[in-house]
Amino acid sequence: MEFAEVPWTELRNLAIAATQRSYAPYSHVLVGAAALSDTGLIAVGSNIENASYGLTLCAECSLVSDLVRQGGGRLVALVVVAGDGQPLAPCGRCRQVLFEHGGAQLVIDQGDGAEALTLGELLPHAFGPDDLPTRSTT
Ligand code: THU
Repeated sequence: MEFAEVPWTELRNLAIAATQRSYAPYSHVLVGAAALSDTGLIAVGSNIENASYGLTLCAECSLVSDLVRQGGGRLVALVVVAGDGQPLAPCGRCRQVLFEHGGAQLVIDQGDGAEALTLGELLPHAFGPDDLPTRSTT
């Protein structure tokens, strides 16, 4: 899909709206994510914190859950924002989770006036599903 064909405004609006469904009583960092898949479906997620802190689910993980629940597909375009509506950089763990479902070509919005980045730029030389059969020794 071409960059211009992506409904970026819709994805941004959905991501901003998702911050209002965030459960973040500990950090108070509201995060929303919205993405388009190559099958045309849109997945959305919010961060869901936990009293044990380490079990917190990032918005991107919630989004991947929503993607798979709807029937999956490959992620092609992603917006992640904080409660101020501005882009938030996916954490390291989320970059890996997103790589599984979008790969290096996934385009990630950087907001107005900034060029979008690919997941390959955020997570270069990634380990992924293709490495398993080639690196297995048993
Ligand atoms: N958070 C996300 O939802 N996604 C990220 O990529 C980075 C961090 C959330 C987790 C936690 O609820 C809050 O932001 C502060 O770390």
